Amino acid sequence: MADRESTRYTIGFAAVVCVVCALVVAVAAVGLRSQQEANALAFRQKNVLLAAGLVEPDETRSDRELEQLFDRHVETRLVELESGRYEEGGRIDPRTYNQRRARNDPALSRAAPPNEAKVARLPTYGGVFLIRDGTGDKTVRQVVLPIEGIGMWGTIYGLLAVDRDGKTIRGLTFYDQKETPGLGGEISNPKWQALWVGRHAFDANWTPKLTVIKGRAGPPEQDPHRVDAISGATITSNAVSRLIGFWLSDAGYGPYLRRFREGGNG
Ligand SMILES: Cc1cc2nc3c(=O)[nH]c(=O)nc-3n(C[C@H](O)[C@H](O)[C@H](O)COP(=O)(O)O)c2cc1C
Repeated sequence: MADRESTRYTIGFAAVVCVVCALVVAVAAVGLRSQQEANALAFRQKNVLLAAGLVEPDETRSDRELEQLFDRHVETRLVELESGRYEEGGRIDPRTYNQRRARNDPALSRAAPPNEAKVARLPTYGGVFLIRDGTGDKTVRQVVLPIEGIGMWGTIYGLLAVDRDGKTIRGLTFYDQKETPGLGGEISNPKWQALWVGRHAFDANWTPKLTVIKGRAGPPEQDPHRVDAISGATITSNAVSRLIGFWLSDAGYGPYLRRFREGGNG
C-alpha cells in the first residue's frame, strides 16, 4: 500500500494528473481542429457576404445557407499587392489562405512603408473576394477587400466592398477589434457602417480621399468624401479613415484597384 503522505507519492500523483490533463487537451485540440477551421471559414464567408450587402446584419441564416450563398456569388482570389495582378501560379489555395498569418511570416511578407494607419507589415498576397450577381453572369459587380490598422486599443480588422467603378463604397464591416464598447466599439455598429455606403473613396486624380469629420456629413451624393465620426471616439474614427486610405493607396490594393476599374482584372 503506497504511503500517501510521502513526497514520492505526491510527485507521482501530480505527474499522472499532468499527463492525463495534457492528453485530454491534446486530444480535444486535434479532434476539434477541423471544426475550428470550418467555423473560421464560415465566419469569414458571413462577413464577406455582409460587406457585399448579400446578407443583412439582422438576418439569421444557417451556416449551410451562407455557404451556398457564398459559393453562388463569391470567387476568392489572391492578388500580388505590389503589381496588382492575380496570383496565377496556384501555389497557394486562396480559400484557405490566412492573410493574418502570412503578414507575420517573413517569407510571405515585407515591411510596410511608413503610414498613418500604423500597418507594420504587408503580405505579398492579399485576398480579394469578387462578387457576381449569382445568375451565371460573369460580370464582377464589386470586390471585397480585407483591411486592417491600429485603433486606440489594438488592431482593427475589417472588409471593404468597392463597386465595379473602383471608387464607390458598397459596404464596410469590422469583425474583430478591441475598441471600447459604446465608444470606439461602435465601429462594429451596422448603423455607423452604413454611413460609408455610397461615398467615393478617391478624388478626381484617384488619390484616396475619405475622411471622418466631427459633426454631420451630408448624404453621399452631396458629400461623397466625408463620414460622421463617432462622437466621443474620434481616435478610433480617425483610425478607420486612415486604414481605409492606406489599403486603397498604392501601398495596399491601389495597383489592383487600378487594374480592376480599367477592366484588366475581374
Ligand atoms: C476608458 C476610456 C476608453 C476610451 N475608449 C475610446 C475608444 O475606444 N475609442 C476612441 O476613439 N476614444 C476612446 N476614448 C476617448 C478618447 O480618449 C478621446 O477622448 C476621444 O477619442 C475623443 O473623441 P471626441 O473628440 O469625439 O470627444 C476613451 C476614453 C476613456 C476614458
